[in-house]
Amino acid sequence: MKSIYDNEMELDFLSKSNNEAFARITVAAFAAQLDPTIEELADIKTAVSEAVTNCIIHGYENTEGVIKIKASLLKNEIEIEISDNGKGIENVELARKPLYTTKANLERSGMGFTIMESFMDEVEIHSVVDIGTKIIMKKKIKSKQPLEEEKEEVLLKLNS
Ligand SMILES: Nc1ncnc2c1ncn2[C@@H]1O[C@H](COP(=O)(O)OP(=O)(O)OP(=O)(O)O)[C@@H](O)[C@H]1O
Ligand SMILES: [Mg+2]
Repeated sequence: MKSIYDNEMELDFLSKSNNEAFARITVAAFAAQLDPTIEELADIKTAVSEAVTNCIIHGYENTEGVIKIKASLLKNEIEIEISDNGKGIENVELARKPLYTTKANLERSGMGFTIMESFMDEVEIHSVVDIGTKIIMKKKIKSKQPLEEEKEEVLLKLNS
């Protein structure tokens, strides 16, 4: 496979609620190559968890279907695509709004997309009714200060 990315992975799994943890842990293990902080990793896990839960609950409405995840790394950025072939979203702009939910009866709070948007740098929603939904999320991983530089800074401060 020839790719413009530095690394890529794909995952197909059934829309069972047990697979939500599997998906978020697998993407986090892949993202670990970028050497993220614990917080950055937790943000990615939460966003993946929200998107996968949406595929299970809304896309397939708890019937069996396939969820696809594709994750790509380019320099210090991770791009994650999460898609289903479920019922689709009628009004994407409305769905993005905080507190908007079509499943208030299931005690959903309508905060999934808002959480994804606050934890990731970019969130795109592509959806066609009766065809399915694809979420594309991007996050830049900030580079940590190398240990040697940190030591030099401490030494400079001590000597000044
Ligand atoms: N994969 C999907 N397929 C079909 N509809 C979706 C999908 N993802 C989201 N939606 C629609 O968008 C709405 C908003 O999603 P969002 O995740 O923000 O809230 P929620 O899932 O209803 O509640 P919460 O995430 O807080 O439990 C959902 O109520 C649903 O109507
Ligand atoms: Mg949700």
